[in-house]
Amino acid sequence: MTLNTAPLTPRIGSELKIAKADLLSGNHAHAIRDLLVERGAVVIRGLHLDDEELRTAARTLGDLRVGTAKRGADGKVLKEGDEGVLKVSLDPKVNPDYARFLFGNLLWHMDGTYEAVPPFATLFTPHHLSMQGGDTMFASTYAAYEDLPAEEQAFLDTLRVVHTMQAALFPAKRDCTPEEFAIWSSYPQRSHPLVWQHKSGRKSLVLSTSAAYVEGMHPAESHDLLQRLMLHTVQDKYTYRHKWQEGDLAIWDNTGVMHRAMPFEEGSKREFHRCTLNGEEPITAPARELAESA
Ligand code: OGA
Ligand code: MN
Repeated sequence: MTLNTAPLTPRIGSELKIAKADLLSGNHAHAIRDLLVERGAVVIRGLHLDDEELRTAARTLGDLRVGTAKRGADGKVLKEGDEGVLKVSLDPKVNPDYARFLFGNLLWHMDGTYEAVPPFATLFTPHHLSMQGGDTMFASTYAAYEDLPAEEQAFLDTLRVVHTMQAALFPAKRDCTPEEFAIWSSYPQRSHPLVWQHKSGRKSLVLSTSAAYVEGMHPAESHDLLQRLMLHTVQDKYTYRHKWQEGDLAIWDNTGVMHRAMPFEEGSKREFHRCTLNGEEPITAPARELAESA
């Protein structure tokens, strides 16, 4: 059975037309996963999924991440569990844990670069739209890599990048307090290859605001390289900007796409519900050419 799809831009994003029951049945899950990897982001309009349906849709596509409650030594709940659906809102009453870091979402990023195996995909549906702004943008790090000259690809294939939370959050909040900066710095950092050779056969750049520096490179050179790759990747031709309507569902392949929220009004009740699918493969660098090691 073929899916009813239409590209949203030439290089990234497709709109999928599918009835809710067909989506939730899982009968098209393989085809939707293939579409996701091919197009980076998939949008379905008019679904109006509640949390239970969002979870069901997520489970057809992969391994749903469920946040278990964290308890202190006295058994008191320190952090609530989320039963697979996370509320994304700046309102501390909705999600106190998230509101502390959410401003970082305004810059281009990949989720979970601090993890050994970053999440595979995210399902995202609005529950309350902002009055102004609040679009979500997506950039294909697959397409951005594929368009680079072969010699540059071969060089980038050899590099590793260290990802840190202070690199991700400081540019989004330069007036942070020393205490905030200390908290960000206390999070573990993670080194990943700059180029991901996916099991699917595609390659992509592993870019995000969390990319702090290239290992073993002079800091100035490393800064210039990461900046240049970021500017290359977020060119119009590799991006899709989604203007939200109630009932939408967007799914993105977090392994080959960066995303960001566009600014919205202060005090906004903007709220999304999201399901995260766990990663299925560690970030693996492309294998070196045999000739090189001979
Ligand atoms: C996220 C995120 C973007 C948005 O939930 O990880 O970056 O538009 N969201 O809210
Ligand atoms: Mn994000």
